[in-house]
Amino acid sequence: MLKIGHRGAKGYEPENTLIAFEKAIELGADGIELDVHLSTDNELIVIHDETVDRTTNGKGEVNQLSLKELKALKIDNIQQIPSLTEVLDLVNKRCFINIELKGIGTAKPVIGLISHYISEKNWDYNDFIVSSFDWKMLEQTHSLDSKIKIGVLTEVSIDEALAFAKKINAFAIHPDYELLSKENVILMQQNGFEIYPWTVNSESAIQKIKSFNVNGIISDFPDRIY
Ligand code: G3P
Ligand code: CA
Repeated sequence: MLKIGHRGAKGYEPENTLIAFEKAIELGADGIELDVHLSTDNELIVIHDETVDRTTNGKGEVNQLSLKELKALKIDNIQQIPSLTEVLDLVNKRCFINIELKGIGTAKPVIGLISHYISEKNWDYNDFIVSSFDWKMLEQTHSLDSKIKIGVLTEVSIDEALAFAKKINAFAIHPDYELLSKENVILMQQNGFEIYPWTVNSESAIQKIKSFNVNGIISDFPDRIY
């Protein structure tokens, strides 16, 4: 059962920050999950929302701010918004990285960055999973590099996610855990997909989802999965 730290270890440190990713690794995470958007100067930025308003001391849309402007903002008075490159360099292959494509136009630069780390820095395809609720960006990902491991995110329908996962030869399905049953987990696994539900935080929910024999769990508290 793989432990995947949601936005790092969101239960312990500010989400999507370098200290949250380091914390997840310290807690024994096999993988970390993070969200990416593009800045106005086309840098890949690790942040969940379309705006900086909720998580920083600034205001505005991420894709209307430059990397320099984004780096000037503070999270919890001290942390900065990381770029995706900074996170990759911090992680340095100590666990895999589930990159969730949030912002429009992130598929191509993310695949470019992954290719660079594989060809120039000795990383491996197994060091990455690319996921998204935006299935058009997943189609694009698959057509840019069919070896990339793709996770199909859904909060709506297991049947539709399964059909789409087959269509693009995905690696995994990442469902809202409330959509799962023992039967549909078996069905998806029989079709060859790993199952990584999110965001499973309470001890009782973790025990229930574990009993479905999923392949991994995405949690704000990766240390609760064992
Ligand atoms: O990738 C799983 C989960 O992070 C999807 O939901 O809103 O937390 O990005 P959200
Ligand atoms: Ca996410």
